Amino acid sequence: MGLRSRLAGREETTTDGHGDGRLVADYRAKLLREIDLAEMSSLGTVERRDRLERVLGHILSREGPVLSPQQRALLIRRVVDEALGLGILEPLLEDASVTEIMVNGPEQIFVERAGRVERLPLRFASEEQLMQTIERIVSTVNRRVDEANPMVDARLPTGERVNVIIPPLSLTGATLTIRRFPRAYTLRELVDFGTLDESILLLLAALVRARLNIIVSGGTGSGKTTLLNALSGLIPDGERIVTVEDAAELQLQQSHVIRLESRPPNVEGRGEITIRDLVRNSLRMRPDRIIVGEVRGGETLDMLQAMSTGHDGSLATVHANSADDALMRLQTLASMSELQVPFEALRDQINSAVDVIVQLVRNPDGTRRIAEVVALTSRGRQPFRIADLARLETTPMTADGRVHGNFRHHPVPRGLADRLHRAGERIPPVFGVHLDDDHLTTREAR
Ligand SMILES: Nc1ncnc2c1ncn2[C@@H]1O[C@H](COP(=O)(O)OP(=O)(O)OP(=O)(O)O)[C@@H](O)[C@H]1O
Ligand SMILES: [Mg+2]
Repeated sequence: MGLRSRLAGREETTTDGHGDGRLVADYRAKLLREIDLAEMSSLGTVERRDRLERVLGHILSREGPVLSPQQRALLIRRVVDEALGLGILEPLLEDASVTEIMVNGPEQIFVERAGRVERLPLRFASEEQLMQTIERIVSTVNRRVDEANPMVDARLPTGERVNVIIPPLSLTGATLTIRRFPRAYTLRELVDFGTLDESILLLLAALVRARLNIIVSGGTGSGKTTLLNALSGLIPDGERIVTVEDAAELQLQQSHVIRLESRPPNVEGRGEITIRDLVRNSLRMRPDRIIVGEVRGGETLDMLQAMSTGHDGSLATVHANSADDALMRLQTLASMSELQVPFEALRDQINSAVDVIVQLVRNPDGTRRIAEVVALTSRGRQPFRIADLARLETTPMTADGRVHGNFRHHPVPRGLADRLHRAGERIPPVFGVHLDDDHLTTREAR
């Protein structure tokens, strides 16, 4: 069985005349559990196969089914082929606690577990061996990596997101990053993790149901997609939702969802479909809401226009380090559209499109938290003004290496409160409502 079918279904149960695929998968898992990773990585390809065959032989003698010598030899070959498929990455892919695998050239392998990054005492035998593994991975999605295509970003059939960049673009050697398909968490679970508190949950839920436009902002791996997914889960069933993503990660449960995924150019450099193409197309699909996985370029303008023209209740994420920064980023990204819109006009677009920004942070202890929730209160071409709705106040890292913090809640500006009330939503009491926005403490975004 080839790598392709393995990647397409780890739980494969086909029977192909050489024994049961299930059996192969079971023994492969048992084998990977018994081997000594550090030792395996120090062996060459031939010795590694030899060692695996011997360990598997012991396992089969100990607890295996009764097999003829031919059947036994065939089973061993198939299991070891499978186990060697991605070399030393196999056991890491098998390990559910590993959320990200990062290979920086043959010498350095890092993984992320429970939000913490650690270096493993493993290495590839050579640059060639690493390249072979990379080629095996990208060939399963019909992509090629070579000097003409030195960067590949792809999603495996099993959902993992894979990025490859090789020399001469990478000075560190061939670099492979595998992100496991993210687990979908509900807002309730995120409250249990301390990402937000109960009151913020209730406020965000009200904002989503009342169709306010929300931008989720944060740095790399800060939990933007996870929060976007959790927020999307609050959209009432029956609304027509179109999602647009680079790598489809959102897992919406509603019955009326259309998922769109962009496409990179093929090996000949043709056929690219960008996020922007998809956002534009989605506008012609009569959506009630549009969800954009991440805005990175000119599509920002299309998305802002959609948000302010009837597709309210839309959601998107942007890569930025604070809510202030998110506004600046949106403006810069929107200006990347080929339409030459003056900067003041872009401000107008953002002021009328964006209602709330939720900023995430990833703390040194691996936790992800909401750092701030702000409402945009400026109108027209005014410079951006924002009012805090909630803010995380952290204490310095404690001896146990954890970051603790509490959320402060602030009154909801009158305009926003009115929209929530009109939609029949309640505002959690800890926030309160600002009766007179003239005295609302807002600040100019910097
Ligand atoms: N609130 C959270 N608490 C704990 N872990 C989380 C939380 N949110 C996300 N994670 C974990 O952090 C990792 C990154 O999450 P996610 O993909 O949502 O981040 P992201 O900001 O979208 O990343 P990227 O910048 O790569 O798009 C995943 O393994 C995810 O399960
Ligand atoms: Mg993301």
